[in-house]
Amino acid sequence: MAKKITFPENFIWGAATASYQIEGAWDKHGKGESIWDRFAHTPGKVNNGDTGDVANDHYHLWRRDIRLMKRIGLKAYRFSTSWPRILPNGRGKVNQKGLDFYNKLVDGLLAANITPYVTLYHWDLPQALQDEGGWEVRSTAEAFVEYAEAISKTVGDRVKNWITHNEPAVVAWNGNDNGEHAPGYKDLSRAVPVSHHLLLSHGWAVPVIRSNSHYSDVGITLNVGWRVPASNSAADLNAVREGDGKWTRWFTDPLYGRGYPADVVADFERQDAMPNSMNFIKNDDMQTISVPMDFLGVNYYSREVVRSGAWGNEPQVVFSKPKTPENWTEMGWENFPDGLTGALSRLYFDYKPLKLYVTENGASYSTPPNKTGRVKDDLRIDYYRTHIAAVHRAIEAGVPMAGYFAWSLMDNFEWAKGYAQRFGIIWVDFNTQERILKDSAKWYKGVIRKNGF
Ligand code: FCB
Repeated sequence: MAKKITFPENFIWGAATASYQIEGAWDKHGKGESIWDRFAHTPGKVNNGDTGDVANDHYHLWRRDIRLMKRIGLKAYRFSTSWPRILPNGRGKVNQKGLDFYNKLVDGLLAANITPYVTLYHWDLPQALQDEGGWEVRSTAEAFVEYAEAISKTVGDRVKNWITHNEPAVVAWNGNDNGEHAPGYKDLSRAVPVSHHLLLSHGWAVPVIRSNSHYSDVGITLNVGWRVPASNSAADLNAVREGDGKWTRWFTDPLYGRGYPADVVADFERQDAMPNSMNFIKNDDMQTISVPMDFLGVNYYSREVVRSGAWGNEPQVVFSKPKTPENWTEMGWENFPDGLTGALSRLYFDYKPLKLYVTENGASYSTPPNKTGRVKDDLRIDYYRTHIAAVHRAIEAGVPMAGYFAWSLMDNFEWAKGYAQRFGIIWVDFNTQERILKDSAKWYKGVIRKNGF
């Protein structure tokens, strides 16, 4: 029989979503346009022409969704607030109806005994700010502080767990360097100042949130993969260094007071991506960015076995195992639980955050309901079981893990992949908005009840 795994007392079990991926109501009640509205409405950007216009219609169905969370027994729910719903122009006039929505959502969660974890920025920048340069300009970071003030002043008496940004590396590099995400630029020299202003806005927002939300925990969420070289050649080893530098250390080093890593600065300079020798960095910025945090959030999905060169500056991801559904999820991401133990341990022992959460982890499998309406998503259950066990191994190694959030509460708009990729533990029929608890949701309910398995 498999070993019994029990988590520490008070370990937080949750599930996560993001505003653009589930809310819909993209232009309702005074909401402004976001860069994802614009991007998805641009032909050719999203698979199948899908958009988040309606998505899960969570804006109207949130009461039902809270009831489903309750049925699963979730202790916590991580969601993001939509900046353009609250500040339609990004700054200035506040849209009271937007604030009302989140007020009701927070009250509904608390009444159901579910602790809200609020992410401020999960990628839906107001288009009005993009029109003025987006994250490439410093004034967007200033506007973010206004947004942080508005939302934390409204719900900060009841929300005590805050995440400023979700995956700033994906915002900077996918949005502005490889162009897969909104706003869709392919220019590293634009993406580098974007990354800086994201980090700066985090540093400015943390004290604002703390002053409006007493005794709260504030942190940031980073996407952290697990990179290994395809061979022991110097070139492949350097590809691992380069990938880890650009995607992880470029963010963790400044957040933990070390400034930008010199080797990555050199990589960027070699690519002519350091315009005016980084004069977008002002006097106190690095100090601001390294403001102490209460926790670090980690999103982990996969490992990357990398080989140098094949994609220019981006290392190529090599397929290292036979292509079976067990080994490869439908996103084309390798199923590699040990990488989660590795990533959590590495972050803790390198940077010593006070505590860590897995703020996202999950798998895309499209298993539909069978004739009796049951969704037998055994592959997803295996993914969760092995990854949750991997979190437990990190705890045994001394990593102070505070909680785990499944991605996602329900199937939703998977960015450039549209609705084809299903990460939910709840099945969603996007024509009827019917929801069905998948077998994985029922399995997760048992994990939460037993605090392990
Ligand atoms: C992460 C995102 C999340 C979701 C998962 C699959 O990068 O934070 O919104 O799309 O990937």
